[in-house]
Amino acid sequence: MHDRIAMYNANALKIGVFGANCSSGRSATKVPERWSASWPDCLRLARMADEAGIDFMLPIARWKGYGGDTDFHGASLETITWAVALLGATERMTVFGTVHAPLFHPLIAAKELVTADHVGEGRLGLNLVVGWNEGEFEMFGVTQREHDARYDYAQEWLDAVKRAWTEPGSFDFDGGFLKLRGVRANPKPFGGSRPIIMNAGSSAVGQAFALKNCDAFFVATSGSRTSMAGNVEKVAEIKSQARGLGREIEVFTVGQVICRDNQQEAEDYYRHAIIENADWGAIDCMLANKHITPQTIPLDEYEQKRQYFASHAIGGYPFVGTPERVADELAAISKAGMRGVALSFVNYLDELPYFCAEVLPRLQRLGVRAVN
Ligand SMILES: Cc1cc2nc3c(=O)[nH]c(=O)nc-3n(C[C@H](O)[C@H](O)[C@H](O)COP(=O)(O)O)c2cc1C
Repeated sequence: MHDRIAMYNANALKIGVFGANCSSGRSATKVPERWSASWPDCLRLARMADEAGIDFMLPIARWKGYGGDTDFHGASLETITWAVALLGATERMTVFGTVHAPLFHPLIAAKELVTADHVGEGRLGLNLVVGWNEGEFEMFGVTQREHDARYDYAQEWLDAVKRAWTEPGSFDFDGGFLKLRGVRANPKPFGGSRPIIMNAGSSAVGQAFALKNCDAFFVATSGSRTSMAGNVEKVAEIKSQARGLGREIEVFTVGQVICRDNQQEAEDYYRHAIIENADWGAIDCMLANKHITPQTIPLDEYEQKRQYFASHAIGGYPFVGTPERVADELAAISKAGMRGVALSFVNYLDELPYFCAEVLPRLQRLGVRAVN
C-alpha cells in the first residue's frame, strides 16, 4: 500500500484537481468562463495535469443540479466511468472514483473499481461517501437513513467490498443490512494491494469512520492566511486518534486557487467571479439542503452563512494571489502536516498551466515537492 498512498512519487505535498467532472467545478459563479465539465475539457485537463506532475484528480459524485441561474452541478460526469477513461488516458496520476454507498450495490462497485484499477495499473482511488443531499436520494426513490446509520451501512458496504477484493474463494456475507451468498469476485485489484480509500465526513461519526477504514481523510482548511495553528492542531489530533486505533492516516484538505501576476489582479478576479457574480440561487439551494433557510435561522445569520458559503465553503480555502503567495500558503499547509490538497479553479484548463508553471517550481524550492 505504501506506493499507492505515496501516489508513486516523492512529493511531500500531493496536489490534486478537485471537482472537474461537475459543471462550474467548485465555483458557484455566473461568469461565462465557468467550467463546462464536458468530456473533451476533462480529457484535455487530465492530460495536461498528468504531464505537469499533478498527483491526483478527485471528482464529485453529484446526481442532481442545485438550480440557480446556472443550475450549479446540473451537468456532471459519473465518477467511476470518468475515472476509468482518465486512467486509460494518463500515465502517472491517481484518479479517484466517488461512490455513494447506499446507491451502488457493493459487488457491482467492487468490480467496477477493480476494472478501473486494472486500467490504471494501481492508480485508482476510492472516495466513499454516504450522501447528504435529500433531493438526490428522492430522485432514486431511496430513503436516506438517519445520519449515523448511514455510516453503519457504509461500514458493512466497505467490509463486503474489501472481502470481494481479497477472498480467494467463495464467501457468504451475513451483515445486519447485507446478506450475500456464495460471493465470488475475480480478478482482485491490481498488483496484490487495493485502491487507496478516502472519506471526508465532517461529523464525529464520519470522522470515526475515516479513522477506522480510510488511508486519507479530507478536512476543511482552517486558519487565517498568517496562522496555520488550527491546521497543525487538527492534523495532530486526527493522526493521534488514528494511532490509538493502530492505524496511520494521511490528512488532506481542499481549496480554490486564483493565481495571477500581481496580488490586486488576483483579488479583483476573486471578488468578480466568486462574490459579485455568485449564483446566489444555487447557494440558497445548497444551504436549504442542509436545512439552513431564512425561515430556520435569523436573517442576519443567514446572510452571513450565504457570504461564507460563497467565499469559502464551496471551493474550500481561497488561495488568492501571486505565485509567491499561493506557494507560501500551500507550503504552510504542508508544514502543518497535511499530506495534500485538492484544488479547484474557476476554469481549470485556462488556469492550471499558469499554476503549474509558476507555483509548482516554487513548491520545489520550498522543499515540499520533489525536484524531477
Ligand atoms: C473533499 C470532499 C469531497 C466530497 N465529495 C463528496 C461527493 O463526491 N459526494 C457527496 O455527496 N458528498 C461529498 N462530500 C461530503 C462528505 O462526504 C460528507 O458527507 C460531508 O462532509 C458531511 O459529513 P458527514 O457525512 O460526516 O455529516 C465531500 C466532502 C469533501 C470535503
